[in-house]
Amino acid sequence: MEREANSAGAQRWDPVRYAEHGRFVAELAGPLIELLAPGPDDEILDLGCGDGALTAAVAPGCKRIVGVDSSPEQVAAARMLGLDARVADGHALPFDSEFDAIVTNAALHWMKRPDAVIEGTWRALRPGGRLAGEMGGAGNVARISGALMDALGRRGIDGESRFPWYFPTPDAYRRKLAARGFEVAEMALVERPTTLPGDISGWLETFAEPFLGAVAAPERPTMIAEVQAALKPALYRPGTGWVADYVRLRFLAVKPRAGEG
Ligand code: BEZ
Repeated sequence: MEREANSAGAQRWDPVRYAEHGRFVAELAGPLIELLAPGPDDEILDLGCGDGALTAAVAPGCKRIVGVDSSPEQVAAARMLGLDARVADGHALPFDSEFDAIVTNAALHWMKRPDAVIEGTWRALRPGGRLAGEMGGAGNVARISGALMDALGRRGIDGESRFPWYFPTPDAYRRKLAARGFEVAEMALVERPTTLPGDISGWLETFAEPFLGAVAAPERPTMIAEVQAALKPALYRPGTGWVADYVRLRFLAVKPRAGEG
């Protein structure tokens, strides 16, 4: 089922915590970079560049890459790597026919107005430009978000209304891209259980602030411990550690040249 986008508390990003608990996001981007297939003449936009780890990995294979992110802290971290990184809202991209390709990894699911995002990517691309993306798809982190919403429910708080992510089905996202005029070359929903670098509590503290922020600060450690205990039978594997129930939606779409499509 595709979940409706709804209002939620803001997620804040701490680059130090992200480096510890979120580095795997860029490390697992190999299939996305293959889909992007950067060329030496390509000018590329990294939409939702975070701390710039993926931007830096793509940079040597293209002419120019610009990263944008809504978090000033993450943009500052990306700039420390010597990257051209800018603060921008993915719902209102400020580019007009500047790029041959856009790459976006684990960012679009934080943007709850997908039509506005798609519109901005369309405008930012030159004719023939590619949009290569990976995001959470339908069913992504279902166990984790379920345990968080249960913990909020026990406190009389409606977790559903705080759900901060947009995890579309392949059909729903394909329709949105096609409605804007993109030709969808690839669209796949891929289950990718993901071994975390540490305890699930680190993931929760890094990525689940819209849920955790619903309770007073002194209560949060108790809530995290409850969620951890609820998830352990399903997501903790002795000898491996914590494995998050990630489901990726991976796609490649092309903005046709005039007369094509
Ligand atoms: C993801 O990459 O799928 C994801 C990351 C953080 C929160 C939710 C989903």
